[in-house]
Amino acid sequence: MISVIYVSVADPMIGEGEIADIVKTAQRNNARDDITGALIYNGQNFMQLLEGPASKVDACLAAIRDDRRHSGMVEIRRRAIDCRDFAQWSMLYEPRFDGDPDRISRLGMKGRIDTGDERILSNFLALGRRR
Ligand SMILES: Cc1cc2nc3c(=O)[nH]c(=O)nc-3n(C[C@H](O)[C@H](O)[C@H](O)COP(=O)(O)O)c2cc1C
Repeated sequence: MISVIYVSVADPMIGEGEIADIVKTAQRNNARDDITGALIYNGQNFMQLLEGPASKVDACLAAIRDDRRHSGMVEIRRRAIDCRDFAQWSMLYEPRFDGDPDRISRLGMKGRIDTGDERILSNFLALGRRR
């Protein structure tokens, strides 16, 4: 299995309703495709972590890359994994992540996600809070 984190630039007109649609589709497809992960929107950018079988994750990333609700997708981290950090989440999305920087790691499978991933995700959240 692999774990991939990417960042993208959200369409400036996007609203919570459209994000809810994205999450609903993601949860349906990812449950089917054995993919789990988390999505963060900080008001300008998306950061998403996807984990699962490499071929499935790469196919999912290719579909996401073409989505006009965002652009400029850049992969931040890709690594091989033995076990998942978000095993119980077909796609975790919590609009109030910004209330508590530790929340994302508490929501991870073991109550503690990979420390490298945690730094990336929590720094992204912290930057969103500075605006
Ligand atoms: C930021 C962002 C994250 C997305 N994440 C996922 C995802 O995890 N899984 C997924 O299937 N689609 C995701 N999508 C939606 C895909 O781009 C695409 O619309 C969807 O896979 C099409 O599915 P469908 O053919 O079942 O309608 C995401 C879109 C955006 C903009």
